[in-house]
Amino acid sequence: MKRQEKEYYLMHKDIPVCLMEISDEGIVSNVRKNADAFEHFPPGGQMNDMKFHEWWNDRAIPKTRHGAKTALERLGYSSTGNALVNNLALSLSDCYWIKPRSENLAWKDVSLFTNHFVDTFGEITINLGHTVDIRNETRFNCATTQGELQKKWCIDDTGKRFLVKGNYGGSYQQSLNELFASNLHSQQGFDNYTVYYLTKLKTEVDEDALGCFSYCFCNESVESISAWELLQTVKIRQNESLYYPLKDVCLGFGMPEEAFDSFMDYQIMTDFLLSNTDRHMNNISVLRDPDSLRLLGFAPIYDSGNSMFFNASFETLKHADIKSIKTHSFVEREVRLLRYVANRNLVDPDKSEMDFSIYEKDIPERRGRIPYLKKIYDKKLRLLTEFIGGQDIWKEKYHK
Ligand SMILES: Nc1ncnc2c1ncn2[C@@H]1O[C@H](COP(=O)(O)OP(=O)(O)OP(=O)(O)O)[C@@H](O)[C@H]1O
Ligand SMILES: [Mg+2]
Repeated sequence: MKRQEKEYYLMHKDIPVCLMEISDEGIVSNVRKNADAFEHFPPGGQMNDMKFHEWWNDRAIPKTRHGAKTALERLGYSSTGNALVNNLALSLSDCYWIKPRSENLAWKDVSLFTNHFVDTFGEITINLGHTVDIRNETRFNCATTQGELQKKWCIDDTGKRFLVKGNYGGSYQQSLNELFASNLHSQQGFDNYTVYYLTKLKTEVDEDALGCFSYCFCNESVESISAWELLQTVKIRQNESLYYPLKDVCLGFGMPEEAFDSFMDYQIMTDFLLSNTDRHMNNISVLRDPDSLRLLGFAPIYDSGNSMFFNASFETLKHADIKSIKTHSFVEREVRLLRYVANRNLVDPDKSEMDFSIYEKDIPERRGRIPYLKKIYDKKLRLLTEFIGGQDIWKEKYHK
């Protein structure tokens, strides 16, 4: 088959930031940057061509997303790159998109924040086996949301965009964890978190299930950039923790040091309480104004689903060793993340008692886990209270 390359502008709203060729499979070549709009070029791709290609490739839905293969086949896309190009690389996270050179399109014609869309890809991956092809109802889909879990973007009656997420395996715990985390942040009186709600879903075998959803924290005047992307703007030494590089970049983009420290301190401490093992660099983002490019601060805490021993077997849960939890974050050992915390008073132990009844909504077979979840959480809270009181709980003498 003959390879087809077409010319596209990469657009930031209505500003062309480069002209490039893109094949049907989404392979980018011959990138020519617009020197007059360099500051609008995606930060993650500014350093060099290789970084730009990575930025582009990261924009496609991960092939590993549950149900992705089936959804691609059903929708007639040959690859995730092909789906990306066909959907003009539009996203509800930022204001980048691609404009075919020969077409007279403007941001207002394509923006997913203002134009109607149906996320057919998401619809199929979240609801395998249930969906008819509704591609013809809309011109643009979302082929760009990151993450491994099945998810889909929807629009409610008032026009608000929201993201529905499913769970791995048979349990609903990842979704329930999102609500549990929302409840903790609400009790703490912390205001920069994403509120999650429960929603009904159908499983692959037509059974009712529970998922969760959250309203989009981006809009036409607010776009998000992941910590991962920010880190592509600097050179990182091998094996270096990404904490200080991220701090340098955020401060370089104009974030006050106090804002960085207090958000990170709070997030690290609450992640510790929740045993969130997945605060990787795509699960932290900053927000910026796409017009002025001014940094607005951190995106509200999101994606706390991989927490509370969601994937531990019952036996592991019963004998959990809470001092040796491994995380995907700045350092591997969870307890050592606390070393970054400057102000230990940002979490109030007296506002950390939690109601565990939310977990009764999980499938019946998992209800026996609840007393153990509570026991672990209480232990964590005791440890965190010691930490807040001044004890460096990662030190050897606390390792019993
Ligand atoms: N409410 C929201 N508003 C805007 N963007 C969002 C929202 N929730 C999630 N996102 C974006 O979608 C991406 C995927 O969502 P999320 O991290 O919740 O999914 P996930 O599949 O659980 O991810 P992971 O692969 O980390 O497990 C996020 O990295 C973020 O960029
Ligand atoms: Mg995520």
